[in-house]
Amino acid sequence: MISANSLTGIEKFVRPHLAAMGGYAPPKPVEHKGPVIKMNANENPYGCSPKVLEALARCDFLNLYPDATQTGLRHQLQEYTGMGAEHIIATSGGAEVIDLALQLFVGHGDEVINCEPTFDYFRFRTGICGGTSVEVLRDEKFAVNVSAVKAAISERTRLIIINNPNNPTGNITPQKDILELVNTGVPVLVDEAYYEFSGETVAPLVARYENLMVLRTLSKWAGLAGVRIGYGIFPAKIVNYLMKIKPPFNVGVPALVAVQASLADREHLMSTVKTIIAERERLTGELDKRDFLSPFPSRGNFILCSVLRGTAGEIRQKLEDRGILIRTYDTPLLKNYIRPSVGMPEHNDALIEALGEIGEEI
Ligand SMILES: Cc1ncc(COP(=O)(O)O)c(C=O)c1O
Repeated sequence: MISANSLTGIEKFVRPHLAAMGGYAPPKPVEHKGPVIKMNANENPYGCSPKVLEALARCDFLNLYPDATQTGLRHQLQEYTGMGAEHIIATSGGAEVIDLALQLFVGHGDEVINCEPTFDYFRFRTGICGGTSVEVLRDEKFAVNVSAVKAAISERTRLIIINNPNNPTGNITPQKDILELVNTGVPVLVDEAYYEFSGETVAPLVARYENLMVLRTLSKWAGLAGVRIGYGIFPAKIVNYLMKIKPPFNVGVPALVAVQASLADREHLMSTVKTIIAERERLTGELDKRDFLSPFPSRGNFILCSVLRGTAGEIRQKLEDRGILIRTYDTPLLKNYIRPSVGMPEHNDALIEALGEIGEEI
């Protein structure tokens, strides 16, 4: 352990828990020359609505700050979600919902319960707040172990995060399990980033509990990952706190314009979501036919596969050599898994064909 006294220069001033952190492992930069098929970050291969591009081209108020109270936007999201605007806060991507919840509840030495394997951002951002991520293992089918989560609750527990459907495993946690955790009284954040692909939500229950919160995003279903726009559905009391602590202009003008145009083009966007869901089912079946892969059923826009022969890293590299990018993991729990996102039919065909070739080589 390096003591603060032994440090010199700028290191002396950096908060010690941040200096010691490993950081987050985002998808690796691409080395392949030429066109790539990007199936490594659960993005929407169909892009955003063309109406978003038209609206952005017409937008002539980029010189103005956005409305810090998000009044118009929250009313549009009220209409989309069916939850009152007093329950909604818009954020810079769904990721900022996680950050705001952590900032509200978690300080130095506090604990956040995560059901592993899950989205690593939860653990990473807990550490930034000086909190500890208490990792409770899912069972062999990746179901949340509700009694183990309850047993892990301590005096210092400030938040339980449930990702539903869970990235990267793709499975759903039943509503009754979520409510069992909510009934402990500990704040529960349900990350529904992939809600439009799963159709399962606990959002309508938020009005009934003071400790249930839901994360949503337009990154996935609306193809706006690059714009950074998400929102949280919270009990009204929590909205009041978060309105006080959020950065005033956390949602920029391009995001406001993009949401309005996306919601106006909902039918078109949801038809691409339907296609992705159908392709997910087809791709799962095809992956299952490869004798070196075992896919897990998914309710998201991605498919986790256990690698039965060869290594995940070897398969990722061989796919990258063919211009196809998929996600692999450095964490021990996910060491021999690959997770392709679901692409357009032609992307999925290319992946299936490449995996056929790779199966001969490993
Ligand atoms: C489970 C989960 N939650 C939240 C996010 C954050 O998405 P964004 O910040 O783009 O809305 C992602 C993105 O991949 C995710 O997989």
